[in-house]
Amino acid sequence: MGKSLLFYTLLPFLSFLGLVFQDFDDGKGATENYLTNTQFPAAEPGCVDCHSDLVESTVQHSPASESCANCHQVDLREHTENGARGLMLVADVPELCFTCHTDLRQNLDTLGNVHQAVVIENKCTNCHSPHSSEEKNLLLTGQKKLCLSCHNKDISEDGKKMVNIKKLITVSKVIHPPVNNGGCVVCHQPHASSNNYLLISSFPKGNYAPAIRDSFAFCWECHDSDLLEVAKTTSATNFRDGDINLHYVHMNAENGRNCVICHNVHASMNEHLIETKVRFGNWDLPIKFVPAEKGGSCFPGCHAEKAYNNID
Ligand code: HEC
Ligand code: HEC
Ligand code: HEC
Ligand code: HEC
Ligand code: HEC
Ligand code: HEC
Ligand code: HEC
Ligand code: HEC
Repeated sequence: MGKSLLFYTLLPFLSFLGLVFQDFDDGKGATENYLTNTQFPAAEPGCVDCHSDLVESTVQHSPASESCANCHQVDLREHTENGARGLMLVADVPELCFTCHTDLRQNLDTLGNVHQAVVIENKCTNCHSPHSSEEKNLLLTGQKKLCLSCHNKDISEDGKKMVNIKKLITVSKVIHPPVNNGGCVVCHQPHASSNNYLLISSFPKGNYAPAIRDSFAFCWECHDSDLLEVAKTTSATNFRDGDINLHYVHMNAENGRNCVICHNVHASMNEHLIETKVRFGNWDLPIKFVPAEKGGSCFPGCHAEKAYNNID
């Protein structure tokens, strides 16, 4: 931008000398009036002559490539004569964005669980560039990096503690493959959801939930619900002793438990994403899971040490 700024600082002098551009046309609607109006010589610069860096990236936002005036109401003469003047948007974010993205407004209005990131600070521009970007969906940085730029601390609201996902992923030995391969939005909605934790399908909160397929619909997006539902198997799960399905033993009509009693869904220090401890109210009970070549053992607070052997 430096070069063009210098250039336009000299423009008044050039114009005075009668050196006016003949075919000066940036094709940007906002400045068209100035360019075609004979009252103002064609020398008046267009927005992108000074701000080209904003619209140069590979992923373009079509309203910005079309005309800056879709969102800004800058008085160009005031702007160029008096230096940069207020950022005059035609409406505030997010209302500005909703004028075109009506379906998204509807989602935010109707879905019960709205991501705080859409509401705080810069709202939509916490994550998106309104102009252009090197990332898909006009994101400010790569998707996972973007999520972790906020989820790198124990965010608390109303005294609520939240897991520091960045730290968890960094220190853990075992990462749930989709966290690495797909990033955060294979499982979470970025804006809003009707499900807990902004998930793409239903999943319960807390340690207990009816041990039926529907409770954990989210996990069955990628895993087979047989691991929960069949009492005897030599194939549906490796959490079995011989052919006794230990997922089923732990979770059935009498034992309505959540997967997160044993697993961490993001990452863990232990094989098979097994948690190190379970939280019951204010108590942390260690699980003491020890994997074996064909099976493993636990010595949790809830029962004596037990081993399983999953040889067929
Ligand atoms: C002669 C060069 C020049 C032209 C032409 C120009 N700008 Fe600017 N503009 C600047 C400079 C310099 C700044 C301050 C530095 C920055 O933010 O990049 C600025 C800042 C801005 C800002 C931020 C203001 C703020 O409060 O932070 C907006 C928005 C903006 N320009 C929009 C426009 C639009 C829209 C047009 C076309 C109608 C335009 N500019 C044309 C030079 C120009
Ligand atoms: C879709 C709406 C939209 C369009 C179209 C648009 N802008 Fe913006 N612009 C914004 C918003 C929103 C911000 C505030 C960004 C923020 O909060 O970080 C902004 C900020 C700016 C800034 C301040 C610096 C910055 O990078 O944040 C400049 C300069 C600017 N716009 C120039 C332009 C120019 C030049 C065009 C036309 C090429 C344009 N804008 C088109 C929405 C738009
Ligand atoms: C927490 C970061 C974040 C915030 C805040 C955010 N978005 Fe997004 N947005 C994303 C991500 C990530 C995607 C890509 C989703 C995907 O790949 O499935 C996306 C996709 C989109 C898309 C394209 C796909 C679609 O869902 O239609 C639009 C349009 C969009 N966002 C607009 C907005 C608007 C408008 C706001 C403000 C109300 C906003 N976003 C706030 C992260 C965010
Ligand atoms: C004047 C209408 C208009 C406004 C205002 C507008 N958008 Fe868009 N937006 C579009 C159109 C049209 C598309 C689809 C074509 C495209 O990708 O450029 C789009 C696409 C997008 C996408 C998806 C890009 C992709 O790569 O798929 C995102 C994200 C987005 N807009 C965010 C925003 C945000 C954030 C705002 C507010 C700062 C906003 N839009 C304001 C018209 C608008
Ligand atoms: C600008 C900061 C910011 C960014 C970027 C951000 N988040 Fe958040 N996120 C928050 C805040 C703030 C909360 C609410 C914390 C609270 O309730 O205490 C939250 C909450 C969440 C929750 C819990 C929601 C619930 O209902 O329990 C999930 C899941 C989440 N974010 C996922 C993501 C994903 C995925 C991304 C990337 C697409 C992302 N976040 C990007 C700030 C951010
Ligand atoms: C395999 C699916 C999956 C992926 C990928 C995933 N999550 Fe989650 N996430 C979940 C589930 C399930 C929960 C709810 C259970 C829990 O909190 O352990 C959750 C909960 C959360 C929470 C709320 C934690 C709390 O304490 O309430 C945040 C924040 C979050 N995820 C952020 C992220 C971020 C950031 C990424 C990307 C680095 C990500 N997630 C990737 C499935 C996933
Ligand atoms: C009582 C603790 C416990 C609970 C509750 C639990 N799991 Fe597991 N799960 C394990 C153990 C231990 C393994 C490791 C088996 C092996 O390979 O030795 C495992 C393995 C798995 C595997 C790897 C494939 C397989 O089945 O061997 C998946 C997927 C899985 N569990 C999903 C779930 C889901 C989904 C839920 C909730 C519906 C759940 N688990 C509840 C203990 C548990
Ligand atoms: C987006 C797809 C996806 C979702 C949703 C998903 N997983 Fe996974 N999960 C995978 C993949 C891929 C693997 C690695 C291959 C395999 O073991 O099936 C895996 C592996 C696992 C493992 C075995 C790790 C090991 O080392 O043995 C456990 C345990 C697990 N997932 C639990 C869960 C639980 C619990 C849920 C629901 C809360 C869930 N997954 C939801 C894709 C997913």
